[in-house]
Amino acid sequence: MDLDGIDTTRLPVHIACVMDGNGRWAQKRGLRRTDGHAAGEEALFDAVEGAVDVGVKWLTVYAFSTENWRRPVDEVRFLMNFNESLLVRRVDELDAMGVRVRFSGRRDWRVPKRLLKRMDDSVARTAHNRRMTLTIAFNYGGRAEIVDAVRALMEAGTPAAKVDEKAIRAHLYHPDMPDPDLVIRTSGEFRISNFLLWELAYSELVFTDVLWPDFRRGHLLEAIREFQRRDRRFGGLEN
Ligand code: IPE
Ligand code: IPE
Ligand code: MG
Repeated sequence: MDLDGIDTTRLPVHIACVMDGNGRWAQKRGLRRTDGHAAGEEALFDAVEGAVDVGVKWLTVYAFSTENWRRPVDEVRFLMNFNESLLVRRVDELDAMGVRVRFSGRRDWRVPKRLLKRMDDSVARTAHNRRMTLTIAFNYGGRAEIVDAVRALMEAGTPAAKVDEKAIRAHLYHPDMPDPDLVIRTSGEFRISNFLLWELAYSELVFTDVLWPDFRRGHLLEAIREFQRRDRRFGGLEN
């Protein structure tokens, strides 16, 4: 792998991706939007392999947002079935790569039971892996996550004076997950679309015109190079 220009001692610990542009990729080819989602599988696995090979410890991918229920019912149904089949077909491969699979999002009634079961099986099957954690944000919304954290705090009877950033973080979906250092969004859109609102307070954002089905590990490495050119100050002064 061409690590040219990448300083492996300063890798982003956590990379998060908004996998966007599947529909446009398909439309450009005269295909159905759903063919674009299917083509995104290769991009996802190439990115996962690339991240594992380069030594990234956490990769989070946005697969379905709490707003994506607004899509036509056929597309939503396709995405549910497709994600289930992806787990059925490829979880062994992820396991063999040393990837721990996790999910982030709401387990509400709209997510088919069979898919929830498959998600649970995939998590259990790969729970022992530590090479990299792949978090799949599914039926995920950043606002929903914060709402759920606040609800959990209230249900625990937390007094107002004890509600601080640490307490909120402790009630996010995965409190042990480090904040993303780098967020990549494909398809030329410059927005966050309700992804990881709490966690990306100080993330470096990289936008690329590449449509998700065309994304490959080389694009991931390019984003890491861009990340390494940035000067992160966290509100302080540069070193
Ligand atoms: C991203 O691709 C995948 C999901 C949101 C599920 P899109 O389906 O949003 O593709 P575009 O943005 O319409 O091209
Ligand atoms: C964000 O993409 C959600 C996922 C990639 C799963 P969208 O395509 O849903 O975002 P908008 O609608 O362009 O903001
Ligand atoms: Mg989109």
